[in-house]
Amino acid sequence: MAEASSSNGCARLAGKVAIVTGGASGIGKETARVFAEQGARMVVIADIQDELGNQVAASIGIHRCTYIHCDVRDEAQVKNLVQSTVETYGQVDIMFSNAGVVSPTNQTLMELDVSQAHHVFEVNVLGMALCVKHAARAMVEGGVRGSIVCMASVAGSYGGLTMTDYTMSKHAIIGLMRSSSVQLGKYGIRVNCVSPNGLATPLTTKMLDAGPEKVESVYEDYSRLKGVVLNTKHVADAVLFLVSNDSDFVTGLDLRVDGNFVSGKSDSVY
Ligand SMILES: NC(=O)c1ccc[n+]([C@@H]2O[C@H](COP(=O)([O-])OP(=O)(O)OC[C@H]3O[C@@H](n4cnc5c(N)ncnc54)[C@H](O)[C@@H]3O)[C@@H](O)[C@H]2O)c1
Repeated sequence: MAEASSSNGCARLAGKVAIVTGGASGIGKETARVFAEQGARMVVIADIQDELGNQVAASIGIHRCTYIHCDVRDEAQVKNLVQSTVETYGQVDIMFSNAGVVSPTNQTLMELDVSQAHHVFEVNVLGMALCVKHAARAMVEGGVRGSIVCMASVAGSYGGLTMTDYTMSKHAIIGLMRSSSVQLGKYGIRVNCVSPNGLATPLTTKMLDAGPEKVESVYEDYSRLKGVVLNTKHVADAVLFLVSNDSDFVTGLDLRVDGNFVSGKSDSVY
């Protein structure tokens, strides 16, 4: 069971209702845990991995966290996620739209596989837009001055030697965030992105076909900041800043958690 606390002794998300998409694994799982620790009244994890999602919710504690199946590609499911959260817990204060995928092949431009790219765009871009859309509608209808965080990536700011579809999708997310932050500002709703460098999660261990330590050593080369290795807690803490009142006047920001990313390496996985 997560304890509500913070370094200065007061919970930074006291009373808030949060949705975390892709919360069954990796960054989303860690962020759901951090939200609960920081006093969120309820964290709703939405994912397609039902067994894992239920396990994560149970490990955080059923009074602070629950799981709901939601494929973000399906608007009816996203609408149901948001509506059922409002019906059960009264409102949505926080949407961390985090669910994302990579293609199973390299996707250099000249080998672009359109069916794989479609899937990446359906999840990473259109699914993300649906989550922002329905969270924003619920916040406006409920008069909630909420905070929306979209998961982008350093791949949203740099070109790469491979992963062309993923890179395009993450650039699109920055555009989604910028437009929605402009449009939703009049309602007091903030929209920001968090953009990590590469880190070890089930997504990257599978993609690189390597264990977490190997994955970390691969990505270490892409950071100028030495002596610290990026992990899910670093990313979750950046998301926490963006959804808490600590960032009350911050909107339209792409917050890079990247150790000052080094681009253009000849052996780039990006
Ligand atoms: N790991 C990295 O190096 C890294 C770096 C930058 C950005 N990101 C981004 O962070 C986010 C989380 O990735 P992660 O590394 O934690 O990966 P992960 O695979 O551990 O978690 C992603 C989660 O998204 C869920 N998901 C996938 N498709 C979905 C769908 N259609 N509907 C609902 N849920 C779906 C998965 O089931 C999984 O639980 C992604 O958007 C990813 O692009 C990751």
